[in-house]
Amino acid sequence: MALRPYIVGNWKMNGLRATLAEARQIDRAAARYPAVEVGIAPPFTLVHAMAEATQELRVGGQDCHAKVSGAFTGDVSAAMLKDAGAMFVIVGHSERRAMYAESDSDVQAKADAALIEGLSVILCVGETEAQRDAGEAEAVVSAQLVGSLPRGEGAAARLAVAYEPVWAIGTGRVPSVDDVGAMHRAIRAQLLAIYGEEGAGVRILYGGSVNAGNAAELLRADEVGGALVGGASLTAESFAAIIHASA
Ligand code: G3P
Repeated sequence: MALRPYIVGNWKMNGLRATLAEARQIDRAAARYPAVEVGIAPPFTLVHAMAEATQELRVGGQDCHAKVSGAFTGDVSAAMLKDAGAMFVIVGHSERRAMYAESDSDVQAKADAALIEGLSVILCVGETEAQRDAGEAEAVVSAQLVGSLPRGEGAAARLAVAYEPVWAIGTGRVPSVDDVGAMHRAIRAQLLAIYGEEGAGVRILYGGSVNAGNAAELLRADEVGGALVGGASLTAESFAAIIHASA
């Protein structure tokens, strides 16, 4: 991996204030691996407290609204995340695409808004099992990239793409290293086509059932620049092992 590895925990709807103790331990683990960039996206309620309680971690949001403010009950804007101490935001996670019917253009608007507010972006793409079985995985991911990548000036410099096959999320199933490499090469080719040379600096993370046991192998696959980790990021023990595997 030529680019600095980026290991990010997506806590999803997990974590209370007491869980910050885990984040502090992860923060100490991150300090031992300066060659690795480590982030956590806790629920919105913990963003500010986690940013205050940690030094090394990049703290981020799991979603944002595309508008800065307004009558959007329950939503949080990129400006609010930034104000709370966030450095990045995840957009386009498959759970949001599926459960909240977020389209590619919705995701693109969120990514654009986040970049305008000075946040970095992790943009998620990935195919369902039916799409993979039908041989459509690369076409599906390619269409998601075309439709949802931010296009503003300098966007690539603050962008990471996370390839998360939907069928691998929370299931304990992972694609073969060859399949991960093939998809990541295809994503890289598309980033280069869209951003030119700047596309070479965009880290492409793998996500989906990454754990302490499989991280080292997955991180060795072609063009894998890090991992977006769900369940195994919730405890310092397993997340620190993944950070170690990436170093
Ligand atoms: O965003 C991370 C994610 O969807 C993967 O979750 O629990 O399979 O690591 P998990």
